[in-house]
Amino acid sequence: MDRGRPPALVVQLPGASRPDSVRQNIIAGLTAPAPWVAPKHLYGPLGSRLFEAITALPEYYPTRIEKALLARHAGDIARLAGPAPTMVDLGAGNCEKAKGLFAALRPRQYVAADISAEFLQDALSVLQAVFPDMNLLGLAGDFSSGLVLPDSVGRENRLFFYPGSSIGNFAPNQALDFLALIRGQCSGGGLLIGVDLVKPASILEPAYDDALGVTAAFNLNLLNNLNGLIGSDFDVTDWRHRAFYNAPLSRIEMHLEARREAAVRWPGGERVFRKGQRIHTENSYKYALKDFKALLRQAGFGKIAAWTDERRWFALCHAGAG
Ligand code: AVI
Repeated sequence: MDRGRPPALVVQLPGASRPDSVRQNIIAGLTAPAPWVAPKHLYGPLGSRLFEAITALPEYYPTRIEKALLARHAGDIARLAGPAPTMVDLGAGNCEKAKGLFAALRPRQYVAADISAEFLQDALSVLQAVFPDMNLLGLAGDFSSGLVLPDSVGRENRLFFYPGSSIGNFAPNQALDFLALIRGQCSGGGLLIGVDLVKPASILEPAYDDALGVTAAFNLNLLNNLNGLIGSDFDVTDWRHRAFYNAPLSRIEMHLEARREAAVRWPGGERVFRKGQRIHTENSYKYALKDFKALLRQAGFGKIAAWTDERRWFALCHAGAG
């Protein structure tokens, strides 16, 4: 009996950060005059699940709008992508968004990249059960500082998929570098990317500070992740979640703010945070559509198609490499 393919393979991305450099980087951020931690440390077995819960919140509109845009424009996307693309999903998470495109795109291979290997393995196992004959590959790790794909990723007609406005978690100059890296790996294919658009703070701020406190838990859980990564003794009850729109910089900022003086130790170091002092944990940039198209062009992409919802809150763009 044909039982389909063996379970989907998850491989570590080449160039994955070594534990000692991860540690050094975290400590450099924690001890900086304006403390910060890279947003990739929000994710992990629990953080990825909390993010998944965020996407179901009434206040967090991006996922719902993007899903509707993907469904509405699947035919156009398939036409632009061409036959049997190699689909490389750079924001895979639970793979749900890509799965919705499979019927229209009929990819020859689906490559899912995510920072959490465990989360990715679970998602791909579910996917392999639904699509037993599909060629699936998982890439675990942080690709944000380099995009080196293993040889097992098909070269023909690549369609990079970068949904969810994850591009907004880069500063615009880093976003440009990352888009140019993708452009260099497209092999004549293209990029399908979601981007959150500029809108009033009254809509943006609740999306990052929801009534149920799920985003607060997502942000605070970063301290648990740090305790695991550097052996620190952060007590989450000493901290509160802060999120606000920085309009001049067009970005939501997330911070963790000390509720009281908090002394934090880790092997080889410590820092006392004053009451009210903040650790900057994430930026989420919002773009005007014309500026984002200009960024895609600057990164070397050619023909750009863009679709938005009626309120113009979110945009989905296809950018051809040609
Ligand atoms: C993954 N990324 C696009 C999310 C965002 O909207 O910037 C992460 C997030 N942070 C808080 N809520 C969601």
